[in-house]
Formats: sequence, structure tokens, C-alpha cells
Amino acid sequence: MHKIALAGCGRISKNHIEAINQLKSEGLAELVACCDIIPERAIEAAMKVGGECRAYTDYSQMLKETDADLVTLCTPSGLHPYQAIEAAEAGKNILSEKPQGCSLEACDKAIEAADKAGVKYMVVKQNRFNPSIQLLRRAYEQGRFGKSYMILANVLWTRPQDYYDMAKWRGTYELDGGCLSNQASHYVDLVQWFGGEVEDVKALYSTQKIKMEAEDTISVAIKFKTGAIGSINATVLTYPKNLEGSLTILGDKGTVRVGGFALNQIEHWEFADQDPMDEEVKNANEAPKSVYGHGHLPYYRHVLDVLDGKCEPMCTGRELGRLWK
Ligand SMILES: NC(=O)c1ccc[n+]([C@@H]2O[C@H](COP(=O)([O-])OP(=O)(O)OC[C@H]3O[C@@H](n4cnc5c(N)ncnc54)[C@H](O)[C@@H]3O)[C@@H](O)[C@H]2O)c1
Repeated sequence: MHKIALAGCGRISKNHIEAINQLKSEGLAELVACCDIIPERAIEAAMKVGGECRAYTDYSQMLKETDADLVTLCTPSGLHPYQAIEAAEAGKNILSEKPQGCSLEACDKAIEAADKAGVKYMVVKQNRFNPSIQLLRRAYEQGRFGKSYMILANVLWTRPQDYYDMAKWRGTYELDGGCLSNQASHYVDLVQWFGGEVEDVKALYSTQKIKMEAEDTISVAIKFKTGAIGSINATVLTYPKNLEGSLTILGDKGTVRVGGFALNQIEHWEFADQDPMDEEVKNANEAPKSVYGHGHLPYYRHVLDVLDGKCEPMCTGRELGRLWK
């Protein structure tokens, strides 16, 4: 049974606790410690887990005392790499919420620290486990697109000012970033996962409505080393609710668009060849209640497989469009 310690008992921690509780019922993993600088949050999370889960308000103390083999980071994004370094130095494997961090330099240092300590360091990118994205990836790895020409992502969501006012870290460059690194980070990951190494990237962005430091609207243009062109359009200003979270791949022999409000529906699936996987398209659609989707549980199953030496981690900090088997 793997033992997990979790830092940051806010909104997304609930998805983690739910997934870990399911794994506990299967005898695979349990949450043994949780920590938040707001004591009530740590206590509430520990009570939800029950059993031996200990609540802490000090991350360093939790690391010192816990016998967990995995530390999950659900804290404000800019803290992730620094807390990852501390966890690595304590000999713990790390599962960091997305984004990995808010500065490349800090992320590189965390990767180095994990390498030095010989621990695994993974980043939560649960959308890769959506049935729609898994099917798309299989088609891609089988070469059904031929050459990819364009990889396009749209994240047309809405977040009210109240969302940013909920916590001081939101919308700051140091701890969060804007709609690209927060709301669109899964889409940035997917565009790069399918596009591979980037040759050039440019962006135009502005902060038009939300009172925050970082951008509320952005358009990114990418040229991949293969010659393919990528684009990411993201905003939190869509009226009146989330409209679209989509990924479109246009290739020489195939066109696929995965849409819905959060990559949950295959809207277009067309290839020059036929394949038994085409029959799976209608079963790959889901209707999650929130944009977080259902991916945390399958993601944890993957993480446990990595810790058990059954496979290599799919989402490490050094992702470069490498094919995952
Ligand atoms: N995978 C996803 O789809 C997804 C979805 C939402 C959020 N996230 C990510 O999860 C992270 C947290 O987001 P959230 O919406 O849960 O935020 P939140 O503000 O609701 O929760 C963060 C918690 O961390 C606590 N905290 C702050 N500093 C701490 C410290 N030093 N030690 C321990 N606890 C500390 C805060 O008190 C708060 O309770 C962010 O990085 C965000 O990008 C991921």
C-alpha cells in the first residue's frame, strides 16, 4: 500500500482525496498526512479521509514526520517547484498539480533536485487520460494523420472577478499566471505533446476585464520543428459561461477535433484509412460535471504503476513530445 501526503487542501484537493480514497478501498494507496497553512482546511481534509490521516499546518514538518512515499502538491502554482525540491531532498516521490511552476528556472531546479535524489517527479495532466484524448493519441502514434500540418487549441471559458478575488495568489505572475498557464495549461501540454519540439513561439495578450496582474486573453502562435503550425487561443472572458475547450489536429490523411467544453466530445473523426478503433469513437465521449473532468483517478493509477516500476512516467517536467508507450 503506497502512502501519500498532500499539501494544499483547497479546491482541487477534493479530486485528489476522492481518487486516493477509491484507491484505498482497493488496497492500493492511502492518504496518511495533509497540510494547509489554513488549519481548518487541513483538519477538514484529514477528517474526510478518516483513519490515520494527520493534519499539519507546516509543510516542512509534515515532510520530516511522514513516512509517505509520495507527496502530492495542490498548493498555489508558483510554490510547486520549491516544495518539490524540499520533498525530493526528503527522499519523497512527487506528484505536482499543473502547472509545474511559474518560472522555468525554478522548474529546472526541481527536476535537478529530483534527479539528484533519485525520486520520481510527475505533473498532473489528467486530460491525457480522457478516453477521447487516449483514442486520438493512438491514432496519432499509429501514423494515421500522415504529416501533421496544424495543431489548434481553443479554451474559451469564463471566470468571474469573484474567482480571482477568492485567494490572493490568483492572477499573479509569481504564483499563478494568467489564463494561459492556469486555465489553458492542459491544452498547452496537449498541443506540445502532439506537436513535438518547438522552433519558434510568439504571443499577443492583454488584460481587458479581470482585475489581475496577468493576462485574461491570449493568442499564441507556434512553429514546430516538423514545420507544423500550432495555435492556442485562451480567454476567461467568454459570455456567459464556458463555451469550448477543444483540440484540433489537421494532418495529411486525417482531421480530428475533440471539443465539448473540456475535451470531452469527439466532434470530428475522419481518416483516409479505416481502423477498428473508429468503432470506439462513440464510446469515447463523456459528460463530466466540471472542467476538471474524471481524469485524476486514472492519473493516480498511472502514478502508482510508475512507483511500482511497471512503466515510465508519462508527464515528467522535461516533456518534449516524446512518444509514451
Ligand atoms: N488538474 C487540474 O485540472 C486543476 C484544476 C484546478 C486547480 N489546479 C491546480 O491546483 C493548484 C491549487 O489550485 P486550487 O484551485 O485548489 O487553489 P486553492 O486556493 O483553492 O487551494 C490552494 C491551497 O493551498 C494552501 N496553501 C498555500 N500555501 C501553502 C503552503 N505553503 N503549504 C500548504 N498549503 C498552502 C492554501 O491555503 C489553499 O487552501 C493550482 O496549482 C492549480 O493550477 C489543477
